[in-house]
Amino acid sequence: MTPVFTGFYLLTGATGAIGKEIARDLASKGEKLILAVRNMDKANELREELLRDYPQCQTIETLKLDLADEQSVRDAVETLDCRHIGGLKGVINNAGVMSRRYGVDSQGRELTMAVNYCNTRLLVERLKDRVETGGVIVFTTSLTRFLHRRKDYPIRFEAKRFSQLGTYGQSKRMITEYARQLAVELKGRVRVNCADPGIVDTGMISMQRWYDPIADALFRPFIRSPRQGAEPALRATYAEASGKIYCRRRIHEI
Ligand SMILES: NC(=O)c1ccc[n+]([C@@H]2O[C@H](COP(=O)([O-])OP(=O)(O)OC[C@H]3O[C@@H](n4cnc5c(N)ncnc54)[C@H](OP(=O)(O)O)[C@@H]3O)[C@@H](O)[C@H]2O)c1
Repeated sequence: MTPVFTGFYLLTGATGAIGKEIARDLASKGEKLILAVRNMDKANELREELLRDYPQCQTIETLKLDLADEQSVRDAVETLDCRHIGGLKGVINNAGVMSRRYGVDSQGRELTMAVNYCNTRLLVERLKDRVETGGVIVFTTSLTRFLHRRKDYPIRFEAKRFSQLGTYGQSKRMITEYARQLAVELKGRVRVNCADPGIVDTGMISMQRWYDPIADALFRPFIRSPRQGAEPALRATYAEASGKIYCRRRIHEI
């Protein structure tokens, strides 16, 4: 009989600034990892780096996952089946994007919404039954979710309704609302938490506007490093609690 492999943490956006720090911490603890990312060259480079730096970490898989493409999510889940990966210890949804301009995914949905909400939700819906009892699902939220009060929002909308920060904030609000519902659904079996990294010195905070160099000079020295930005996600992963948002210092109910 073919053995089924269990006990992996699946981490999305592992090749990003905060994602790398999450991966390094998990690897330092000898956890088994699946780096679920869109760029396989970057994934293989990171895999080698982690295996070199953390010999205690013996199993690191890479998995192609483009969250701008619904079919890629389905293919990624199928690939886990082909590789006989059964139970997951955790799913850490760290990948995210804040598109500068209006664009659509393969399904005609606005891109930021598709990556941060629709396809992240689809991935979790497909994986939630694989998460082992006592395991965890973590979502990455943002302070920008407070820019909106609506819990739902059209995911197919015209360019004129798009704004870089506004649409991003709405996507984070919706994924946080989904996390709240999932925490209720999986209560007692799987922990569901959110992480709010704060403002972190990564490519994500660039608005790709003329004032970026001025903002960089004024603010970047005072904001959090990617390592500090990873701390809420790590606390959300290792905590015994469920239904919480882990922030820089505080912990809130979702
Ligand atoms: N930086 C902040 O101040 C801040 C604040 C609040 C929340 N966050 C959240 O923190 C998380 C990590 O962001 P970061 O600051 O570390 O930014 P980052 O360095 O740009 O990392 C973003 C990650 O998401 C991945 N990604 C983007 N689009 C994707 C797609 N279509 N399919 C699969 N992966 C995709 C990127 O892949 P590549 O490596 O291939 O580019 C990258 O690994 C995000 O969810 C972000 O919204 C960040």
